[in-house]
Amino acid sequence: MTVSISVISCAIAAPVNNASIVGTTASITYGVTGDLTDDGSEESYRRVRQLLEPFDAPVHVLPGNHDDRRNLREAFGLAGEGDEPINYSVDVGGLRLVAFDSIVPGQDPGAYSTTQLRWLDQELRRDTEAPTVLALHHPPLPTGMPEWDAINLEPSEREALAAVVSRHSQLRAVVGGHLHRTAAGTLGGCTVLSAPSACLQVRPDFERNDISFVQPPGFALHVLRGGDFSSQVELLGSCECG
Ligand SMILES: [Fe+2]
Repeated sequence: MTVSISVISCAIAAPVNNASIVGTTASITYGVTGDLTDDGSEESYRRVRQLLEPFDAPVHVLPGNHDDRRNLREAFGLAGEGDEPINYSVDVGGLRLVAFDSIVPGQDPGAYSTTQLRWLDQELRRDTEAPTVLALHHPPLPTGMPEWDAINLEPSEREALAAVVSRHSQLRAVVGGHLHRTAAGTLGGCTVLSAPSACLQVRPDFERNDISFVQPPGFALHVLRGGDFSSQVELLGSCECG
């Protein structure tokens, strides 16, 4: 069984360590879909590494808009140089995880550049058989909450990604974070899921231009068993983050 966990935001280790996941621990992989820190500083990444240290499983990370590519890359020994985009693939049991960098340094909204989309298309062509999860920070779905959608993705960005996704039927899900809210949609014929925050969730307010937060924290599980794939959300108790 492969269980991959997608979490976002701060206080990662505390809530995930409280989760009861029953399975073969050797087949569990943690995937953190960005915003590992609030400020992107070296000190914050040192703290994240400390929090993740007790995890008895591989941890794969990618950047969010609050991260610093250079510091994140250094802290986790990721391939590539300096502040260039962080893209890579890993095999997790029978599941292939493709980490795709969606950030624009210095901005909250994400974007998928032509160069990035070309990399993704080529990477997905390398293995068209293995069930694959595409992980990124900015999930390609609108929430209907204007202020939140304004810091996620332009429709043109979602359309550009949809063109790539629709060419790869091995994709089981596109998973992201950023929204501090569980949300699901489709893109190019594939399921899209944004994981809940490992800290605070956004209150569902579709009228006010003002984002407010509530608890509890949570995370998403992506489970592959016997060729069957599902995404599941686990909600936890309260957390201490503010
Ligand atoms: Fe974010």
